[in-house]
Amino acid sequence: MVNIWGGTRNHLSNSLVKKTRRALIEIRGIYRFRGDFPGKYPSSIKYRLRENRAGYLAAFGQRHAYLTYLQVKRVEGTNTGVIPNPENSKGELVVTTLGAGPAIEMYGLCLALNEDSQRLQKLRLNLIDKEGEWSSSRHTVFEKVLKDTFPKLEIVPTEIDADLTTDCVSKLAGYYDKLAATQILLIYNVLNEIHVRHAAAVWKNINFILKACDRPVLILVMEPSVPKARARVEWLRRQLAQSSDVILDVPEEEFVFDTEPTRIELEGTGDGLNDRLFDQPLDGRRPALQQTVKRTHLACVVRPRSPVPAEQVQRQLASLEAKRGPTGRFKKRPFPQQTFWDSFPEWVKDSLGKE
Ligand SMILES: C[S@@+](CC[C@H](N)C(=O)[O-])C[C@H]1O[C@@H](n2cnc3c(N)ncnc32)[C@H](O)[C@@H]1O
Repeated sequence: MVNIWGGTRNHLSNSLVKKTRRALIEIRGIYRFRGDFPGKYPSSIKYRLRENRAGYLAAFGQRHAYLTYLQVKRVEGTNTGVIPNPENSKGELVVTTLGAGPAIEMYGLCLALNEDSQRLQKLRLNLIDKEGEWSSSRHTVFEKVLKDTFPKLEIVPTEIDADLTTDCVSKLAGYYDKLAATQILLIYNVLNEIHVRHAAAVWKNINFILKACDRPVLILVMEPSVPKARARVEWLRRQLAQSSDVILDVPEEEFVFDTEPTRIELEGTGDGLNDRLFDQPLDGRRPALQQTVKRTHLACVVRPRSPVPAEQVQRQLASLEAKRGPTGRFKKRPFPQQTFWDSFPEWVKDSLGKE
């Protein structure tokens, strides 16, 4: 958080703590009221503002860091075979995350994979977000939070600047090889910010990534479950029910955190950052440290389509041999004899029979 504010020392001044608390209260209001009180709360969060990025991390960062851990453990308990094993490819794993923000959800994912042994050694990350300002916060997450906990882990990030409510296919195509290698697709706390009227565009973009993938992709979705946010997730749930193998589908779950992992001590101050953000009266408003979050979550696997036999492709190509005639209409071009007979050997018998 000090890093987001551009500070050089390792603790926050009272004025920055105040600003963060104000943003935190506003962000919670935006989530809760979702545009119901336009004068009081805006309908979306402007992450390009520093105070909102700091406020977001203060409100949700620590909880979101652990949600991936909880979900992966749950999926593993249901079906061990579906979690991609980094060992298969020299400890490498490719993860694409939509609405990546600060990418704090990578913490729980790495923890789940490397809890018992150093399975994951190289994490290739495709980070898709419409807000480029998160870049420096991610740097902090990778270089401080992740490096401190997993010193041997190498992270190779690719930032993809894309607004998922628009047709991003040509932009995503520019990263085709990286996206096609995706093994885990994370959709964490982002649909909640996208109105359901954009569902078709968002699906087109997701579907492009899934179709590009040349190996099974584990999709992990985790979104707020409050009634107002539900429609924003339900359309995806329905789509995935049709086009994937659903492993785990939980309409609502309350995750309870004990206070210990959510405490952040600041070096050399004896003061916990949480105490300063949540417990001390500073400006008359004292936000509560939420120890529980309610989420709806879903895990499913999309497998690449089985390859079409070469012979079938050849036949289709032969039947598509066409060219434009002088009128501009398509007309059939005579097949070169060899291609035709090669493609349809059974016709030899028929035509000989006719003669
Ligand atoms: C609440 S943050 C979630 C960050 C992170 N995934 C997590 O779980 O903590 C939502 C992120 O989604 C991004 N976002 C919202 N709408 C988007 C859109 N239409 N296209 C791309 N990213 C979007 C925001 O910029 C923000 O970084």
